[in-house]
Amino acid sequence: MASLQTASASSSRFDGLPDSPFPRLNALIEGLEPGKSPLIMSLGEPQHAFPGFVTEEITRNAALFGKYPPIIGTAEFRAAVAGWLGRRYGIAAHIGKDRALDPEMQILPVNGTREALFNIAQIATPPAKAGKRPAILMPNPFYQCYAAAALAAGAEPVYIAATRENGFLPDFEALPEELLARTAMIYFCSPANPQGSVASKDYLTNLITLARRHDITLAIDECYADIYDREPPTGALAAALSLHEENRRKAGDPFANIIVFHSLSKRSSLPGLRSGFCAGEAKLMMRFRSFRNIAGPQVPLPLMAASAACWADDAHASANRDLYRAKLDAAERRLGNRFGFYRPAGGFFLWLDVGNGEEAARDLWAKGGVKVLPGAYLSREDSPYGPGGNPGTAYIRVALVGSQAETEEALSRIAEVL
Ligand SMILES: Cc1ncc(COP(=O)(O)O)c(C=O)c1O
Repeated sequence: MASLQTASASSSRFDGLPDSPFPRLNALIEGLEPGKSPLIMSLGEPQHAFPGFVTEEITRNAALFGKYPPIIGTAEFRAAVAGWLGRRYGIAAHIGKDRALDPEMQILPVNGTREALFNIAQIATPPAKAGKRPAILMPNPFYQCYAAAALAAGAEPVYIAATRENGFLPDFEALPEELLARTAMIYFCSPANPQGSVASKDYLTNLITLARRHDITLAIDECYADIYDREPPTGALAAALSLHEENRRKAGDPFANIIVFHSLSKRSSLPGLRSGFCAGEAKLMMRFRSFRNIAGPQVPLPLMAASAACWADDAHASANRDLYRAKLDAAERRLGNRFGFYRPAGGFFLWLDVGNGEEAARDLWAKGGVKVLPGAYLSREDSPYGPGGNPGTAYIRVALVGSQAETEEALSRIAEVL
């Protein structure tokens, strides 16, 4: 199979980039027959039914496939997103009678958040910072797109350990000034993939303060925001507003330095719709919009109409959450306190400490027919500023995306095989 390393003889700035975790997993288990009927828990692809109105909206608006979609989307889409931001985070309500976030200027539809997470690095990275090659920081482990985006932008990706010891939340504040001074952007994910950790308001306000001190753009990946166990996780925009209040609403954009990313892939079980949005600082959003007008992928108008209907509806998201909770209950029953099991506060992954993730993944496939992802495929050797080593090596990631019955069966086999 062609990989980034072997596809061409010539070198590129992506030479250091490993293949996607999924072909790596296939290579790891190549030649091994599944011990039982296969159960795929490696891919974070939601299998729950998406809302029925999605198909109706697409059909009703099908004629619009005959039009190029505007990069800023439709007023209807932006209004639906603004409504959700208001209900979910109290965004619109915070600052007196003003709208805290102007949907016209500060919300953009994206063709799935992956492309937007990639593209934001291209406009947020200067050629040099503090006279040096810029750095882009990211948690370790992390969503693989972040590293590719950093390399494409000419930045050095720097991996900051998110381990059990720090509650799976990287300690950006402990980093040396020298690094922070040349940092162009920080990717941060809450709820986190893979660990399901959730940043508190204080964590986020500290991160925002740090970013502003060093003129760093914060790209906050919140695509699991509506998949949570007990409390709805706060978000970076809400944290920024509370900081704004604390600062007695000093002049300036309350969302300065921040852009957040949200997706329907998880919230509405629509990974194939390719639809999300980003929102944040007005100036940054205008720059991103200009760039996207030249180089960004649009969201087709019939899909945008369906997306607007999804953001306007919370009932399906709530029912979706209940399905994940039932699977977490099953995991708790079947795994108990083995493999360092804990109930993730958000997201739909189990992050299990099995000693050696690759070995466990091979065993689970060969003996149990269960496909899981070795944690090390989501992480790298840590930066020199962390504890060292690869923080994912001991783990496997188990995606609870299938039906309840499949999930229970897979969990039993995991408990049996390991
Ligand atoms: C952490 C994280 N960010 C972003 C994405 C991208 O989601 P999408 O492009 O479907 O919106 C994913 C998808 O798995 C993810 O896990």
